[in-house]
This record gives sequence, structure tokens and C-alpha cells, in this order.
Amino acid sequence: MSLDTYICKILSHKEIAPNVFDVTVKAPEIAAAAQPGQFLHVKCGDEIAMPLRRPISICSAGSGCVRFIYQVKGKGTEGLTKENDSLDILGPLGHGFVIDNETYKKPAVIGGGIGAYPLLYLTQKLKNAKVFMGFRTKELVTLETDFNMCAKEVKIATDDGSYGYHGFSIELLEETLKAGEADIIYCCGPKPMLKAVKDMAEKYNVKCQVSLEERMGCGIGACLTCSCETKTEGTWKYKRVCKNGPVFWSDEVVL
Ligand SMILES: Cc1cc2nc3c(=O)[nH]c(=O)nc-3n(C[C@H](O)[C@H](O)[C@H](O)COP(=O)(O)OP(=O)(O)OC[C@H]3O[C@@H](n4cnc5c(N)ncnc54)[C@H](O)[C@@H]3O)c2cc1C
Ligand code: FES
Repeated sequence: MSLDTYICKILSHKEIAPNVFDVTVKAPEIAAAAQPGQFLHVKCGDEIAMPLRRPISICSAGSGCVRFIYQVKGKGTEGLTKENDSLDILGPLGHGFVIDNETYKKPAVIGGGIGAYPLLYLTQKLKNAKVFMGFRTKELVTLETDFNMCAKEVKIATDDGSYGYHGFSIELLEETLKAGEADIIYCCGPKPMLKAVKDMAEKYNVKCQVSLEERMGCGIGACLTCSCETKTEGTWKYKRVCKNGPVFWSDEVVL
């Protein structure tokens, strides 16, 4: 985790799906330190109108550059769409995914919606990952080509059946688990998906890491805005998603 902020030159900024923007910035220090699953805290406007930064995951990093993808939700992410030459970024922040290619030889990576974005960098670092991505509809499907370049297999599901498998990506994951073809699961997506994947991991007795999303203030462990409930008893029952996470072992957290 780095508490340094950097003014990062924007190298590219393009809309890749309706209201979804793909950004690459020059950020040598962040790129050198970035781990899959970590996030950036990005200033989205001037200090007075928008004092709080917004957390955005690292989608990939290397060669002195960092890539992230954001979906416009409200005032903060709307502010990012403005024509800027550079962005003020704090990071990389948080604890990312545990990667152990010796112990886990059959990783399964599952994501939904904006949860797909941090999983690209993870998949690039894993060996032989099977990737399952779910989107609402065809026009929101992103990163398929990028995942194909680094994964063993990529399956896309859409809720409305307009592209790929008609249904939820977790149904595809279950086929893999039933066949004994996964020894660890990595998941990032909306809470109901995290919960369903956590339950499935328990059913098939497979280790699982989940990346949680909570609203954030400081992003560095100082304000407690982002607390999540864990199974630890006593004072440390609540942990900070920004500092102790955003990635946790699924059996550590209450979802
Ligand atoms: C660790 C982490 C990594 C993230 N990575 C990405 C990413 O790679 N790409 C991306 O597009 N988004 C990502 N997000 C979500 C992103 O931070 C929020 O969408 C953003 O902060 C919304 O700010 P806003 O001002 O645009 O919207 P607001 O006006 O603050 O909110 C608009 C709507 O979004 C909801 N919302 C706001 N923050 C969150 C949140 N943290 N989780 C769920 N719902 C929220 C609000 O409840 C409201 O309905 C991440 C969040 C976290 C915590
Ligand atoms: S956002 Fe302040 S403690 Fe996590």
C-alpha cells in the first residue's frame, strides 16, 4: 500500500461500452508496486466540490502505465469523463489477491459487471485460469479479447442471453467445480454473486477469495466508512475493506 499521490498523465481514455470508459495513465511508481486486486483512489473534480476520491480497481499495470476501467454511476465518475490531461491518483491501495501458482494449479476466475475489471490483471498473473464473466447484456460485454489473451478458457454469460451463455456465470462455474476442475476460486462482482460463489465454494470444498465493494471515504484505513463484518470474534470483528481488503478469503467474511 502506498500513501503517495501522483499526478498521472492520461495516455488514452475511450468509451468501450455505454457509460464505461477505459483509461490508461502514465504512473511508473504505481505500476511498479501494483498487485492484482489493489485499487486506486482517484480525485474526480476540484477539492471543494468533490473532496472525496473514488476507488477504482487496477485493471492491469506494466511498462510504467496503469489501466483502469470505470462505469459512470454518479457525480464522481461523471467528473472523470471530463476532458483532462492528467488525474490525481493515490495508490496502489489495499490488499490484493493471493496468487500461488504452485499450490493452486486449477484457478477459476469469476466476475460480474464492473467486477470483471480487477480480474484481468489477476488472470494475467495466474497460470491456466478458467474465466467466467457475466454481464447484463451484450453491449456491456467488455475485456473478452484481453481475457482470451491470458486465460486457458473464457466463458461469457449474459442475463438476457444476447451473447454467450444465457444465464448466470455461476452456473458455468458450477459445471467446472462438479468436474473437479478448479482448486481455487477468485471472485469479484455484486454482493449476491459473492455470496452465491462463497456458498458454492463451501459446497465443493474449494478455497475462495472474494473482492468486496463498500462505499469509501479516506481509502487508507482512517475513517471506518468501509467496515465489513468478519467471523473474527471480539474487537476485530469489523475490518476495513480499504485496508484489510478489498480481497478476503471467503470463509473470513460475513456476506
Ligand atoms: C475497492 C473498490 C474498487 C472499485 N473498482 C471499480 C472499478 O474498477 N470500476 C468501476 O466502475 N467502479 C469501481 N468501484 C465502484 C466505484 O468506486 C463507485 O461506482 C463510485 O465510487 C461511485 O461514485 P460516484 O460519485 O460516481 O457515484 P455516487 O453518486 O457516489 O453513487 C451513485 C450510485 O452508486 C452507488 N455506489 C457508490 N459507491 C459504491 C460502491 N463502492 N459500491 C457499490 N455501489 C456504490 C451508490 O449507492 C449510488 O447508487 C469500486 C469500488 C471499490 C470499493
Ligand atoms: S475508507 Fe476510510 S477506513 Fe476505509
